Amino acid sequence: MIILGINAYHANASAAIVVDGRLIAAVEEERLNRVKYAAGLPTRAMQFCLDRAGAKLSDVDHIAVPRDPFARLGTKLRFAMRMPRFALDRFRVMKRFAGIQEDIAGAFQVAPESIRAQFHRIEHHTAHMASAYFVSPFDRAAVLSADGLGDFASSMWALGEGPRMRPLGEITFPHSLGMYYTALTQYLGFWKFGDEYKVMGLAAYGQPEFMDEFRRIVRADKPLSFKLGLEYFTHQSQGAEMTWRDATSTPVLGRLFSPYLEKRLGPTRMAEEPLTQRHFNLAASMQAALEEVLAAHWSALAKATRQTALCIAGGVAFNCVANGKIFDTSPFERVFVQPAAGDAGLSVGAAFAVNHQVLGRPREFSMDHAYWGPEYSPAEIRTALDSAEIPSDEFDLQELAEDPLLQLTARHIAAGKIVGWFQGAVEWGPRALGNRSILADPRRAEMKDILNRRIKHRETFRPFAPSILEEATAEYFEKTHPSPFMTFAYSVRPEKRSVIPAPTHVDGTARLQTVSRTSNPLYWKLLRAVGDETGVPVVLNTSFNDNEPIVCRPEEALDCFRRTQMDILVMGNFILEKKSATAARSEEPAGGFAQSTR
Ligand SMILES: [Fe+2]
Repeated sequence: MIILGINAYHANASAAIVVDGRLIAAVEEERLNRVKYAAGLPTRAMQFCLDRAGAKLSDVDHIAVPRDPFARLGTKLRFAMRMPRFALDRFRVMKRFAGIQEDIAGAFQVAPESIRAQFHRIEHHTAHMASAYFVSPFDRAAVLSADGLGDFASSMWALGEGPRMRPLGEITFPHSLGMYYTALTQYLGFWKFGDEYKVMGLAAYGQPEFMDEFRRIVRADKPLSFKLGLEYFTHQSQGAEMTWRDATSTPVLGRLFSPYLEKRLGPTRMAEEPLTQRHFNLAASMQAALEEVLAAHWSALAKATRQTALCIAGGVAFNCVANGKIFDTSPFERVFVQPAAGDAGLSVGAAFAVNHQVLGRPREFSMDHAYWGPEYSPAEIRTALDSAEIPSDEFDLQELAEDPLLQLTARHIAAGKIVGWFQGAVEWGPRALGNRSILADPRRAEMKDILNRRIKHRETFRPFAPSILEEATAEYFEKTHPSPFMTFAYSVRPEKRSVIPAPTHVDGTARLQTVSRTSNPLYWKLLRAVGDETGVPVVLNTSFNDNEPIVCRPEEALDCFRRTQMDILVMGNFILEKKSATAARSEEPAGGFAQSTR
């Protein structure tokens, strides 16, 4: 039984393949076509999934898409009557999905009738919830999806029991926590698609002194409900416009906040305008208001379902700061967030929704690691290194067995070098989790600025994250609930903040990845080696890229390594070192609190 899930014609296009109830592969199109947040039909991702499963398109039994143009049709029609542009947009979506079989056939250059798979339209939030619950380790759990907007709803919740999810409620357009966060992100001068996490980082620098106003912008309503102050927004009157040309362009979102918001909170920040304490306080208020609504929602959901386990998905599930507070503000004791909690994860969700909800098959899979993308053999890595024609007077290349490789890498990290770490399969989801990572010493406070200056070129207010040996979590953090996919931020123990200053944010928290021996054995061993070397089994872990999608192929890793001022590249068992890498480089003083120019 082969089920192919596709998130198509939408940002974060992706594909996933489920064979006999088990996930075999999943990848975002952006990793393969190198266009950040790529939308369109994920042809490369589909091909990769088929190849990994050893299947042809004609072998696929079911194709699932996480969109149902007929969901909430009455509500949509009522809205369309007062907004013709919305009606036109809905018509385009319907037409597009109606033609998906022909599009896929065209992309694979086969006759449409050769695709014998049955097509399924899975409602957006059902697919989000399925992407979390059906791959979670829980037999019973409360399930919550919250995002901007999908199939005319922004939130849905359910009780998951075995291979079924029973929907319990939903919030429909125009009330939306995702829209709220995105609109205020724009207001604070961050206009790029996917910039919300930057404002989450910014919030730690401020105090929530605008809460009175923000409680008018968004507020918990009756139990399991919330409302937006619609006068602060434009999406209910003008629609939420997301545009992209095709699969080769990053989506662009239109303005979502109204002039009334500026009237109440003051002028919007221009994109290049310096950040001030007022902006930090606005961001802090925005985050606090979201957390207030979510806390009420989680508590009511726990009460309604009588569950202590929670699965969350949708863009709001990426708010690791809020996620870290679930255990304090609700009765939930265990929480599962899958690594691609946002729209990329819909391909996994749609496929598992078909597997369980449509076909009624039993559950036999849980996602205990994030490594579902392409991987490359030692021979392919060797070929990439050979074809790169690396000058031997500039670089040292060695091939080492595993133990010496780990020990040498740990020594380099301890010595303050910046290490590109390329191993195994590409991570599923937006976080580098130890297979396509740039690693550095977390004990050096200056490392954040060094990384920014040499490689990442990103806003200096944004925190870097730590990976920690799972067994050491309690020693360094005030909470120990596993965070294998970097989806929770916890307080670093006060006495440890000076031990790992580089990934500790200004408010004393860190968005940690707990690494277990079973989820990533090699990375776990590296952390242990770093612990042996330094006494601190922690590394600073940032994604292996420089203003581009995370590297996928060895060639892209090599290119990023050579283009930036990274010191060491470890790919498989090969270790490549820039001669006189760090010694000759004089570091400038640590940068000030300003945005970078890129
Ligand atoms: Fe979504």
